[in-house]
Amino acid sequence: MHKSGLPSVNLLKPAVKPPLWLLAELTYRCPLQCPYCSNPLDFAKQEKELTTAQWIKVFEEAREMGSVQIGFSGGEPLVRKDLPELIRAARDLGFYTNLITSGIGLTEKKIDAFAQAGLDHIQISFQASDEELNAALAGNAKAFQQKLAMAKAVKAHGYPMVLNFVLHRHNIDQIDKIIDLSIELDADDVELATCQFYGWAQLNREGLLPTREQIARAEDVVHQYREKMAGTGNLANLLFVTPDYYEERPKGCMGGWGAIFLSVTPEGMALPCHSARQLPVEFPSVLENTLQEIWYDSFGFNKYRGFDWMPEPCRSCSEKEKDFGGCRCQAFMLTGNADNADPVCSKSEHHGMILAAREQANCTNIQINQLQFRNRANSQLIFKG
Ligand code: FES
Repeated sequence: MHKSGLPSVNLLKPAVKPPLWLLAELTYRCPLQCPYCSNPLDFAKQEKELTTAQWIKVFEEAREMGSVQIGFSGGEPLVRKDLPELIRAARDLGFYTNLITSGIGLTEKKIDAFAQAGLDHIQISFQASDEELNAALAGNAKAFQQKLAMAKAVKAHGYPMVLNFVLHRHNIDQIDKIIDLSIELDADDVELATCQFYGWAQLNREGLLPTREQIARAEDVVHQYREKMAGTGNLANLLFVTPDYYEERPKGCMGGWGAIFLSVTPEGMALPCHSARQLPVEFPSVLENTLQEIWYDSFGFNKYRGFDWMPEPCRSCSEKEKDFGGCRCQAFMLTGNADNADPVCSKSEHHGMILAAREQANCTNIQINQLQFRNRANSQLIFKG
């Protein structure tokens, strides 16, 4: 046994590379209520947050191991008053620093402070291309104008403008207007990411999953804009991410379990992906173990490394080194067993669930106001249930 109390399974150490990406989920607090939030459903019971000093210790340990990129996210990371201090600490350690924000709570003064602290990159998320739909999805009537103002301010401060839109059945048909807005705001990079189904999005899946026709039309529109914008110097990167639910092979989630990505929750739980805390797997805390111990030696981070854990059909699949059997969290959410092949894969015996969800998307009529919004009251209700 290791002095930390964790079983020592260091045999894997030479084969395991350091975590290149550290995601610091600074808080679950958020002024918005997006029904597709990937935060856990029971976030309201997680009151505690790491202190400034505890976060900085995590950054130091991650850098020592070789991490190069850090994302500050949440919840809404701007609610942490020590954000400039955390950015400066990460930057001084040599991290490339990303702020992933809704823009709510951002001010010109804060952008200045972040720039002085050395922040490299800001990504602002929008819910839609117009005020009314944005308000309906975010649960906040003032959010859209604030986002517009802050997107302009971010650009004025010389940051590359990175906009993120989460697409679903209620906004994907406005994709041309979304791209037009991105052009108007002079965005450099735009991520049009169709909703993936974790946390609140999974709870609302029936009301969010687009139809295949909606996806196909959106792809066409993106293609047309790419052709139109080529060589203009605008919209250098227009990324469109389709949902797993319309694939026949699963994604190699997180680039592999415990391969490049390490996430730390607000209260200090270390995870191989942002959704893994829902799994029936014990994950360690940064308050009780060093990141080195966590990454190389902990049970949770070793659980799905390599291929020995795989049952069929993944074990003998020629694509297992590419997709690692897909997403463990999705396998757990849909089949109740995280060891199973991701049902997105057509070789999975559970693939019928994905086909049924596609069918359901053709006939459901769930409206935005019928979705479960991510807020404390709902979280407490669901947790009690
Ligand atoms: Fe957890 Fe895919 S989100 S493994």
